[in-house]
Amino acid sequence: MEARFNHDTNGAPLLDLRRAGAARRPDLSTLPELSDAERQTAIRTWRGRMVNEHLSAQVWASLVPQLMRAAIPPELLTSLPAAAADELRHAEQCAGVVLALGGEAVAPLPEILPLPEHADVGPLEAALRNVISVGCMSETIAVSIIRAEQAELEGGPLGDVLGTILADEIKHARFGWTVLGLLAPRLDDASRARLSAYLVDAFVHQVTYEVPKLPIVAGRRPELAEAGVCDGGFARDLFVDTIETIIVPGLAQAGLAAADAWQRARIETAHIFAA
Ligand SMILES: [Fe+2]
Ligand SMILES: [Fe+2]
Repeated sequence: MEARFNHDTNGAPLLDLRRAGAARRPDLSTLPELSDAERQTAIRTWRGRMVNEHLSAQVWASLVPQLMRAAIPPELLTSLPAAAADELRHAEQCAGVVLALGGEAVAPLPEILPLPEHADVGPLEAALRNVISVGCMSETIAVSIIRAEQAELEGGPLGDVLGTILADEIKHARFGWTVLGLLAPRLDDASRARLSAYLVDAFVHQVTYEVPKLPIVAGRRPELAEAGVCDGGFARDLFVDTIETIIVPGLAQAGLAAADAWQRARIETAHIFAA
């Protein structure tokens, strides 16, 4: 394979999935006619998903050393590189949609922030912080939102793309809840209290990074929905609903003061929901 260096003319890194996406291009000939502006919105949406999925691969990969240090059962560790590979494939699937819509499957690669090490606490507690944030929060929210989008697109080519992605995100979320269920009983009272306090930061992070990715598209026609551009208002309601009806009760079951943490995070992030 030819060597390719994915940087723009200024040396900034690019995510170039044109080749990988071409092999995963769905047939979108049955999609309704879109205006040029609508097509550009759909391309932007799927390109944004492409980048987010690609970045998720790093998140899962970076959990490997951290969960090894926490000595989680080795049979669970193999789920981590598998999840990273899933995310890389999701990025390629989204790139395929971008190409099929007539767009370029190339985007600036945002600065990749490593997961926090949480060196202020022991390895078990540090690992649990990231497992909660990634598996129990991000992936669980992804499952709700993608499931709703997929239901809207059922029977069409994009419904199939989202269906395969959804099946993987369910596994990723389940991994988080499984690890939490195994490790939470090993925490002492002081660790449990610290982890409960950490939940405020974790919820604030979710709102800060996820809610702006769910933009409200004014006057969205149903045709645009068929191209996979979801209703941001509906997705935001689902985001809150998932936290309140699934995530908070799940964390509470693990002995964490999740309802209180969410209430505090809600107050701290009120300006983001209002924007
Ligand atoms: Fe994914
Ligand atoms: Fe995932």
